[in-house]
Amino acid sequence: MEAAAGVEEPRVVVALDLDKAERAEALAAQLDPRLCRLKVGKELFTRTGPQLVERLQQRGFTIFLDLKFHDIPNTTAAACRAAADLGVWMVNVHALGGVRMMAAAREALATANGPVPLLTAVTVLTSHGPDDLKQLGLAEGSDALVARLARLALRAGLDGLVCSALEASRLRAEHGDAPILVTPGIRPANAAPDDQRRIATPAGALEQGADYLVIGRPVTTAADPCAALHGIVASLRV
Ligand code: C5P
Repeated sequence: MEAAAGVEEPRVVVALDLDKAERAEALAAQLDPRLCRLKVGKELFTRTGPQLVERLQQRGFTIFLDLKFHDIPNTTAAACRAAADLGVWMVNVHALGGVRMMAAAREALATANGPVPLLTAVTVLTSHGPDDLKQLGLAEGSDALVARLARLALRAGLDGLVCSALEASRLRAEHGDAPILVTPGIRPANAAPDDQRRIATPAGALEQGADYLVIGRPVTTAADPCAALHGIVASLRV
C-alpha cells in the first residue's frame, strides 16, 4: 500500500502473538493503523481463523499473515492463493521449502483475484543461534545460509526476505534496494531479548537497511502498548 503524500508509511509491524480474538481486538483498539501494521501468526490464526483477519482489516490495519508456509509446491501455492483471497498485505513462506515451492507460490499469486499480497521468504529464524544451526546440520552458519537462501528466494521471484537486521546490510550490498527486507528480532535498548538470538534496536535495524520491523512482546506485553508503540516510532525519527 502506497502512503499518501506527506504521510510516512508505517514501518512497524506489531506481532499479535495472542491466544484470543478478544485480546487481539482489544490491543488493536489501542493501536493506530497510521503508525503500525499488524502481524497475525500461527497461534492467533489457528485459534481465530480468517474472520479475525477480516475484522482487523476493517479497523484499517494492513495485515502480514505470518504462517510461514513450508510444504510441497502445490499445497503451498494453494495456501498463498487463500491468503490473497483474504486481502492481506503480505504473506510468507520458508525459503527452506526450495525454489520450486517458492516459484509455485509466486505463480499462484500472479493469478490471484484482487490485490496481490507481497510474498516474502523466511531465510533463517531469528531465534536460531550457531548451536541450533549446527544441530540441524546447517553448519555453514547463519550468514552464509541466509545469503544462499536469499539468492534462491529472489531467483524464484519473491518480493523480499524475512531476516535478522544483522544480515540486512549484507543483503542490501548484494541485492540492492529492490528486495523488501522484513526484520523480526527487534528489541528497544534495554528490552529483554526473550527467546530471540540475533537482535537489533528499531533504529539500528532501519540503519542496516530493513524496510519493516516486526515487533511483538516489546509492544504486546507493555503496560501501555500504545505508549510503547509511540516510543518505538519516535525512536525511528531521530
Ligand atoms: O515478540 P517478538 O518481537 O520476539 O516477536 C517476533 C515475531 O516475529 C514472532 O511473531 C515470530 O513468530 C516472528 N518471526 C521471528 N523470526 C523470524 C520470522 C518471524 O521472530 N525469522
